[in-house]
Amino acid sequence: MTDRILIIDFGSQVTQLIARRLRELNVYCEIHPFQKVTDAFLTDYAPKAIILSGGPASVIDDGSPRPPYSIFEKGIPVLGICYGQQVMMHMLGGKVERGHKTAEFGRAYVSPAVHDLPLLDGWFSEGREQVWMSHGDHVSAIAPGFEVYGTSPNAPFAITADVERNFFAVQFHPEVHHTPNGRKLYENFIDMAGCKRDWTMGAYREEAIAKIREQVGDKKVICGLSGGVDSSVAAVLIHEAIGDQLTCVFVDHGLLRLGEAQEVVTMFRDHYNMQLIHADEQELFLGALEGLSDPEEKRKTIGRLFIDVFQKHANDIDGAEFLAQGTLYPDVIESVSFSGGPSVTIKSHHNVGGLPEKMGLKLVEPLRELFKDEVRRLGEELGLPKHFIGRHPFPGPGLAIRCPGEITREKLDILRQADAVYIDQIRKHGLYDDIWQAFVAILPVRTVGVMGDGRTYDYACALRAVTSVDGMTADYYPFSHEFLGETATRIINEVRGINRVTYDITSKPPGTIEWE
Ligand code: XMP
Repeated sequence: MTDRILIIDFGSQVTQLIARRLRELNVYCEIHPFQKVTDAFLTDYAPKAIILSGGPASVIDDGSPRPPYSIFEKGIPVLGICYGQQVMMHMLGGKVERGHKTAEFGRAYVSPAVHDLPLLDGWFSEGREQVWMSHGDHVSAIAPGFEVYGTSPNAPFAITADVERNFFAVQFHPEVHHTPNGRKLYENFIDMAGCKRDWTMGAYREEAIAKIREQVGDKKVICGLSGGVDSSVAAVLIHEAIGDQLTCVFVDHGLLRLGEAQEVVTMFRDHYNMQLIHADEQELFLGALEGLSDPEEKRKTIGRLFIDVFQKHANDIDGAEFLAQGTLYPDVIESVSFSGGPSVTIKSHHNVGGLPEKMGLKLVEPLRELFKDEVRRLGEELGLPKHFIGRHPFPGPGLAIRCPGEITREKLDILRQADAVYIDQIRKHGLYDDIWQAFVAILPVRTVGVMGDGRTYDYACALRAVTSVDGMTADYYPFSHEFLGETATRIINEVRGINRVTYDITSKPPGTIEWE
């Protein structure tokens, strides 16, 4: 079995980054909320090492979160970060106090204390190290057996360790970008735990294929293929595992981008030889959307029809027992909530949420353990074209939410063409991969213009391009004026029906990425 590290989550905003850093070092790890980590869980999980995350609670408060004491009795390395450090000190006989003066938020500099520590190999080569602090409470007395290895002006116990027992405790966050040498600290920790660095995409692919075969046996699987990265990678992986036992259903709701439906069908049916049902249901969807202008009504109509159509086609597949979904790790991590038990946040995926129960299907989710960029790497490993894997996210309701107000076929056609020109511009200028999402929205207004010697009265459109790491917050992309000018000219010259181009410079919040 792959060596693994257990991250016990106390609710820090950046716990996921710890997992990211470890995975980048080819070590497998999982995040579990503290409420779930019991003695029995630990024995069963058998981690090679344990990391205690940060968190918003105060160890001084009654009922604040604790890991089970047995984590200290397993003879494995334990690393406590921020709240994790304080909880370690508190449980092992040190002291934690509150204090305004010693609270520290943001950049700080840690200087070495006298001793050497393997955890700090490669640290302090140029004197002090920049770290990121975010703590209100602080340790005022370290636990017996611990010694100080690093200090900052406000944290005399910034780095402490009990070398004998392999316990390490740091006040700062080594996982964040603003602790530039943090990766080295994790690397040292992994090496000290004797953890093999064998979490590679090649190994994952083999393991995942074996698991799918074992789970599915000789039964049939259906997969809703949206053309997005997650469902595409899931489909190709499952196809590699079970071949024609997989059937994909691609629902074309008439709200896709220029040439998109054809691209998906050609790639999966012709190139990968997958059994693919191309459900061309444009008439059905566009008919039902006629006259609707409220964004939520549009979404609900599309969602409902999507399920109907998918179900109709899936019913035709004799003996299908499984539904494949491209659920990712961030969607299944149980988030810590202090008011009750751990709460599970699972997004409804690819508009097929609720389908498995309705149809009595079991789920196959081969990407459940992966982060988005790992899915992209797996896609590459599986031979999916690079330009396809790197595509910007595209929403389930498609162009419907980029066409504020009533949707008409005329507007959709204009929008598709304008969007294609805009994306072509972005690719030509080499900006595509710097942008999280870019698209055109066609506005529900016509404006007066003049072209040649004549007056025009055509639609206005808005260009949108944002940077983001997860779609939760976003900033507009700072295109040059030359780029914007050139793009506007091209759209107006090449797309009949648009005579005015604007650029949306709203960030999220307060705006959203999509227009509806
Ligand atoms: P917003 O507009 O909420 O978008 O800032 C955040 C991210 O989610 C995508 N999005 C959707 N995806 N169904 C989807 O599958 C939807 O109804 C939907 N609405 C927004 C959006 O494209 C962006 O990536």
